[in-house]
Amino acid sequence: MSRKTVIAGNWKMNKLASEVPAFASELKAAITGAYDCDIVICAPYPLIPALNANKDVVGMGVGAEDVSAFEKGAYTGEVSVSQLKELGPQYCIVGHSERRQYHNETDSSVNAKTKALLANGITPIVCVGESLKQRECGLTKDFVNSQVVVAFSGISAEDAKKCIIAYEPIWAIGTGVTATNEQAQEACHDIRAELARIYDQETADSITIQYGGSMNAKNAADLLAQPDIDGGLIGGASLKPVDFATIIMATAK
Ligand code: 13P
Repeated sequence: MSRKTVIAGNWKMNKLASEVPAFASELKAAITGAYDCDIVICAPYPLIPALNANKDVVGMGVGAEDVSAFEKGAYTGEVSVSQLKELGPQYCIVGHSERRQYHNETDSSVNAKTKALLANGITPIVCVGESLKQRECGLTKDFVNSQVVVAFSGISAEDAKKCIIAYEPIWAIGTGVTATNEQAQEACHDIRAELARIYDQETADSITIQYGGSMNAKNAADLLAQPDIDGGLIGGASLKPVDFATIIMATAK
């Protein structure tokens, strides 16, 4: 079983391009110990050139936060995958719950975006996760599995292995309420079981599944120690170099 641990920051709509160089050098200075993960920062499009220019300072990958499901044409404000490719990120988040909630992202647009990214050699970070109400009604597994099924519809096992999945319970995002280690492990395990059902165990075992939702410098080590949690997608704590570095170092074996 070989899968990568990936610690990715999701800056959302925060920071300016002009703040990237200082962030990169502060993050480098704050990583004072060993770690065993790939480091990624996902940020709004205008910040990507600055992240590219500073990525070697930390040895990090660069990601976008969304891409259009359409190839080109009259879609004012959208960014196509070929335009994104020219900016040069290696990763792109799709299906974040904030986009599902505020921008009508659907499971089928997530599927179209995932396919477009794969066709252009950009690693999709596919976000799934339930609401508090769904969890309270005992629907977590069925709901998250249905998101996974549609997101990966028509995608080969070979391509699925190139994807990252982020399990992000909506009730844990930006709330300071983190899923317990057991809740996060159970959900990531259920996602892997669903991937094994869709594809096969070998494919499921090679896909990186991150946890996201109020992961921070204090709780990261315990979450990352869970067998089915292969990294994190981190919002608030990724904006603070020292906190993000602590999460990165929590991956040390
Ligand atoms: P927080 O870490 O701020 O809860 O955000 C998580 C998230 O949405 C990452 O995509």
